Amino acid sequence: MSTIIVYRSKYGSSKQYALWLAEALKCEAKDAKTIGLAEILSYDTIVYVGGLYAGRVKGFKKISKNLDGFKEKQVLLCLVGMTNPDDQEKYLHMFHNNVPEPYRNLVKPFYLRGNQLFSKMSGLHRIMMKAPKSMAEKIPEEKRTEDDKHFLEHFGEDIYYINKESIQTIVDDIRNHSVGYYRK
Ligand SMILES: Cc1cc2nc3c(=O)[nH]c(=O)nc-3n(C[C@H](O)[C@H](O)[C@H](O)COP(=O)(O)O)c2cc1C
Repeated sequence: MSTIIVYRSKYGSSKQYALWLAEALKCEAKDAKTIGLAEILSYDTIVYVGGLYAGRVKGFKKISKNLDGFKEKQVLLCLVGMTNPDDQEKYLHMFHNNVPEPYRNLVKPFYLRGNQLFSKMSGLHRIMMKAPKSMAEKIPEEKRTEDDKHFLEHFGEDIYYINKESIQTIVDDIRNHSVGYYRK
């Protein structure tokens, strides 16, 4: 069974996860900009790893627009965001944002936490980050989660969340299931 990791990353977290996955699964990782649809479709298992930007997985449109062609494939989508992966509800919502309804049983989602690197952010991204900040500020203090509090307390700082061990569930899932499993 052949496997490829395809990634898009602006600040490096998704790329790092993609490289760790490639190392563990002994396969190649390619930037989505450097691989065409035909080449992606030559593999049995496709693992897409992409950073979340305003709820969208960077570069995943290339695949989501063409999911009819992936019906015989095993497709895993790793959403890399600053949201805590324990917050399954928020991630599920973002998964639904990126995968149209008829294909949701074809693509299996996984959630990974990415770094939040303010020092590297473009001017536009710094401005965009004010939206989640004001949303968190609007939550009454007694209702803020630990994540909300941490986000507000450390706003503007670089926070490192990436963690090699968190890829293990993805690696095990691929090793333990044959092609076709994700469509059941
Ligand atoms: C402008 C902007 C928008 C973002 N939007 C989201 C989001 O909607 N959900 C989320 O969980 N993380 C969001 N993030 C955090 C990034 O997904 C996170 O930093 C991730 O590590 C980026 O991946 P990359 O380093 O591979 O580009 C956003 C970050 C920026 C700068």
